[in-house]
Amino acid sequence: MENQALLEAMKATSVAVERVLDKFIKIPDTPEGRVFEAMRYSLYSGGKRLRSLLVLASAELFGVEREHALRVASALECVHVYSLIHDDLPAMDDDDVRRGKPSLHIAFDEATAILAGDALLTLAFEILADEDTHPDPYVRTKLISALAKASGGHGMVGGQMIDLSAEDHALDQQAVFRLQKMKTGALISFAVEAGAIMARAGKPLYASLQGYARDLGLAFQIADDLLDVEGDADEVGKAVGKDAEAGKVTIVGMLGVERARRQAQMLSEQAIEHLSEFDDKAAILRAIAHFAINRRM
Ligand code: IPE
Ligand code: IPE
Ligand code: MG
Ligand code: MG
Ligand code: MG
Repeated sequence: MENQALLEAMKATSVAVERVLDKFIKIPDTPEGRVFEAMRYSLYSGGKRLRSLLVLASAELFGVEREHALRVASALECVHVYSLIHDDLPAMDDDDVRRGKPSLHIAFDEATAILAGDALLTLAFEILADEDTHPDPYVRTKLISALAKASGGHGMVGGQMIDLSAEDHALDQQAVFRLQKMKTGALISFAVEAGAIMARAGKPLYASLQGYARDLGLAFQIADDLLDVEGDADEVGKAVGKDAEAGKVTIVGMLGVERARRQAQMLSEQAIEHLSEFDDKAAILRAIAHFAINRRM
């Protein structure tokens, strides 16, 4: 799959996901309307929708209905956007720009940003629990459980905790990989596994997808850290040069730019190798593995 086709698939995913989300975040004409305005501000501020596309691509592998996959993608996008809103807060990375626009706490205020994040996190589970997301209650329960684990203290939140404490503690490479698997890899793994969960796929195929997701997640975060060093702030839509200044522990800081780039390249190739038993249906997943490390945004 050509890069252009992938970019078009990302765009189409974005439109479809926004259509699903729209009905959940209508702004009520009541005093709490402000939190919905804030949720909309962050949900509709662009973003590559890469995790959403991963959900759609993995669902396609198993012939899962696109409408079901779109609902799961929308739920995941809510968790992802919440994680970015909180990640930018002054108590965390203290970033004023996100996706080329003022971060939510700048555009609104800190309290609203905290609450909008909270509401997005819970909205994700409201969407997953809804019958329209999947007719099989067993599947819905599995989705809820998997997203909860990926998002919580043993997943993204745990990774964010280590990321913040690592500013004052040295970590070895294994520990940095673990941190990145949690903070970034966990949600990416959920995205990739979602199709298998919805299709109630068997263990062997599941394991291949898990291998793909693990390597993709690591490659994706190394690329993010490389963009912080070498990226263009306008293109990436967020401030660059901040990780070293904040004392963030990254693979780039540890290995240097060249070796980190090679590491990302190797992980991306390894990710693709895990897809060998899937035919052309995995073309999008392969293209995403390339895009994850060659992107400029
Ligand atoms: C940024 O994720 C946060 C990381 C986990 C590195 P993305 O680069 O996917 O952010 P958006 O959604 O496209 O803005
Ligand atoms: C964020 O990692 C990971 C999250 C769970 C949000 P970063 O802090 O490197 O993400 P950016 O660079 O701010 O998008
Ligand atoms: Mg961070
Ligand atoms: Mg950050
Ligand atoms: Mg970063």
